[in-house]
Amino acid sequence: MKYITLYNNVKMPQLGFGTYHIDPMVVEYWVTEAFKVGYRLIDTAQSYYNEECVGEAVKNCGIDRSEIFLVSKIWISNYGYERAKASIEKSLERLQTDYIDLMLLHLPYCDYYGAYRALEEAYRAGKLRAIGLSNFTPNQFIDLAANVNINPAVNQVETHVFCQQIEAQKYMRECDIQIMSTGALADGREDLFTNPILEGIAQAHGRTVAQVALRYLTQRNVIIVPKTITPERMVENFSIYDFELTPEEMDRIVALDTGKTRYDPTSPRIVKMFMGTREWYV
Ligand SMILES: NC(=O)c1ccc[n+]([C@@H]2O[C@H](COP(=O)([O-])OP(=O)(O)OC[C@H]3O[C@@H](n4cnc5c(N)ncnc54)[C@H](OP(=O)(O)O)[C@@H]3O)[C@@H](O)[C@H]2O)c1
Repeated sequence: MKYITLYNNVKMPQLGFGTYHIDPMVVEYWVTEAFKVGYRLIDTAQSYYNEECVGEAVKNCGIDRSEIFLVSKIWISNYGYERAKASIEKSLERLQTDYIDLMLLHLPYCDYYGAYRALEEAYRAGKLRAIGLSNFTPNQFIDLAANVNINPAVNQVETHVFCQQIEAQKYMRECDIQIMSTGALADGREDLFTNPILEGIAQAHGRTVAQVALRYLTQRNVIIVPKTITPERMVENFSIYDFELTPEEMDRIVALDTGKTRYDPTSPRIVKMFMGTREWYV
């Protein structure tokens, strides 16, 4: 396993297991399976309604808590200082832990400055080992990083071979923020798995297209949390550190970047859609 060192010296596994879109009824089972394969980073969120299930898996897995890296996210209905503060306590309770390794603000809407102050306070109190953002565009995270006391350590944004975030990653580096991917496999869209360039590179290494797509991101220092509820794929996605893409292969994959996100967080249509979730109880 490769680790990424955050600016505050916290070491974070570069490869983890994503839990979005998994029926909460079976999340505990799949997180336990992921632990057996060797995953130690688990990505959850208040809005996935599965923090309790992740907490149960952590409690029962027999692995020391210090070896596990938990990531969660505050939903926008819990933004503002007071609500975010209370929701961090609820997440700790649901995850049955004294600390969360990395807590993110899920989206750049509503009173995220108030919510960020609650993150800072919980960080100072040792309840969060690192704090950060998700779905923040460069203009938003540059602004926020310049106006808070504790720098965000991570920004989780849509990143995969068709949406590589090369420019955004450059700005994150300048702000001492590590890039973490959502949808590292483009959410399983078939055009990724049948892409001729990826297929050619995969064949040359005796690997799968998924492994090449994930390996590419890790060679660009992206933190990834692919999701799967297929046992063989769970092993496949974890087995990407024993081969290396050449600079020429990396360049060929760079050419796949469309520069387009599926869910542009600045699009008025998307903002309107998320405003409909401001009253969610999470
Ligand atoms: N912060 C945010 O706003 C945000 C947004 C989206 C996602 N995320 C995080 O990022 C994680 C990953 O993103 P995601 O779940 O959207 O999508 P993803 O990991 O890009 O793709 C998951 C899809 O790919 C399939 N798959 C996985 N491994 C495969 C392989 N080796 N070969 C072929 N197909 C494979 C899965 O199918 P099966 O499960 O059927 O195997 C599933 O349909 C999430 O679980 C979540 O933790 C965060």
